[in-house]
Amino acid sequence: MNRRKVLSWFGLGWLASLLPSSLIGCSEAKSPSGSSSASAPESVAAAPSANFKVIGTVAQLDKDGQLVSDKIAVVRDPKDANKVLAVNATCTHNGCTVKWKTADQQFVCPCHDAKFGADGAVRQGPANKPLPRYAAKIEKGQVLVAVS
Ligand code: FES
Repeated sequence: MNRRKVLSWFGLGWLASLLPSSLIGCSEAKSPSGSSSASAPESVAAAPSANFKVIGTVAQLDKDGQLVSDKIAVVRDPKDANKVLAVNATCTHNGCTVKWKTADQQFVCPCHDAKFGADGAVRQGPANKPLPRYAAKIEKGQVLVAVS
């Protein structure tokens, strides 16, 4: 092996060692919370160890328009009637309990009239943070919500 070939192998090795750090430098930076907007609902993916708790039945949900249990409110997803959405019903403004208004498809706070979408997103202030979300699903006629 001549000197030129040895130097070219070292050069390739050096370039290969720089590649991972170059790729990391090009990745998109994220905010500490992982969300890009102050009013965007939190992610609702259930942790692998999440315990799903039965909140009620699908029949009860369809009869009443919502299920409420221990500050957890569950409604049908307006975008997909086969899915359910679960939020913490505690208003993010001052802690009153929001109420689901089926006709308007939104949660309304009785204290200062803040409004939230079915997914917890703020539609009207004074609240400026979304209602926290929980993973939720339907199984065998039961509505289940992930509680950690
Ligand atoms: Fe809900 Fe003020 S406590 S809007």
